[in-house]
Amino acid sequence: MSSELLQKIFRTLGDPTRVRIGLLLQREELAVQELMEVLGMAQSRVSRHLGILREAALVRDRRDGTYALYHFVGPEEPAWADAWALACRAVADDPATERDQAALARVLRAREQRAHSFFDSVGGEWDALRKVWGDELLRARAFRHLIPSGMTVADVGTGTGVLAIDLAEAGCHVIAIDSSEAMLEAAARKLEAAGVSGVELRAGTAEGLPLADGEVDAAFAHMVLQYLEAPEPAIAEMSRVVRPGGRVVLIDFVSHDRAWMQGELGVRHLGFAPEDLAAAMRAAGLEQVHVNVQPEATRGADLPETFIASGTRPEENR
Ligand SMILES: C[S@@+](CC[C@H](N)C(=O)[O-])C[C@H]1O[C@@H](n2cnc3c(N)ncnc32)[C@H](O)[C@@H]1O
Repeated sequence: MSSELLQKIFRTLGDPTRVRIGLLLQREELAVQELMEVLGMAQSRVSRHLGILREAALVRDRRDGTYALYHFVGPEEPAWADAWALACRAVADDPATERDQAALARVLRAREQRAHSFFDSVGGEWDALRKVWGDELLRARAFRHLIPSGMTVADVGTGTGVLAIDLAEAGCHVIAIDSSEAMLEAAARKLEAAGVSGVELRAGTAEGLPLADGEVDAAFAHMVLQYLEAPEPAIAEMSRVVRPGGRVVLIDFVSHDRAWMQGELGVRHLGFAPEDLAAAMRAAGLEQVHVNVQPEATRGADLPETFIASGTRPEENR
């Protein structure tokens, strides 16, 4: 060991306060303010000690908002490690070290209370406060991680592929089906522009899906049933093409009286009664059928309520 290194080790660890600080940071990452409270020392002294420890690469800091938080870095070099172990032994029986640990526990309790009391005081106001995060997109993306990757999903009546792209971005292999050539062409253009792979476009009808029995893990139809002559044949087809244990998910409007939708949006049905839809799904052999009405899930003017219906194809051999 060089004499410079030896001197540096002595200079750094020769002051018991620095060893006490090292021990505290070994137990917990702390802000300067918290170290001041534990040690009962002014900021200038604490900062000077921290500077020396940081220079010796025994502690590191990171920014957390306006705070600098310090943590201990175990010495790697054998000379430093030996010296650190020796220094720790030297202060082990020091009453100041014992006091430090008790003061640390008090400071940590106060820290926890600060976090708790914030939410205790906020309570029901939190929903208004959390709006600053504007995290709708983040939440939607986070939920995508719940979808098992590699699922094959049929997007029946894909239209221009809006939902097919969402599903592909969530890691699904999508077979996007539509009876309209114009829609499929628009979908192909959109997929190319978005640079999305993992979507296979197929021409076909909902009543005669171009899919083999049990070919997909899930079948999905978003705002399609209202355009069909009748929903039952399509629901039976969707049930046929999902594997045992697979899911059928249907999203559409609840029965309504907005006749303008026939002329302006070309719909053939003014929505569906949730109980009729649930009956059609059970008749198609689906189990665990749920039709959940979604109040305020769409934000257009004068729009009816929507529902999300789901059902599961029974496992075989039961
Ligand atoms: C309102 S768009 C919905 C598109 C897409 N699912 C969405 O939410 O953006 C309805 C789609 O269903 C398709 N469609 C209508 N009747 C169909 C049928 N019998 N078989 C397959 N697709 C059909 C239409 O071509 C259209 O693309």
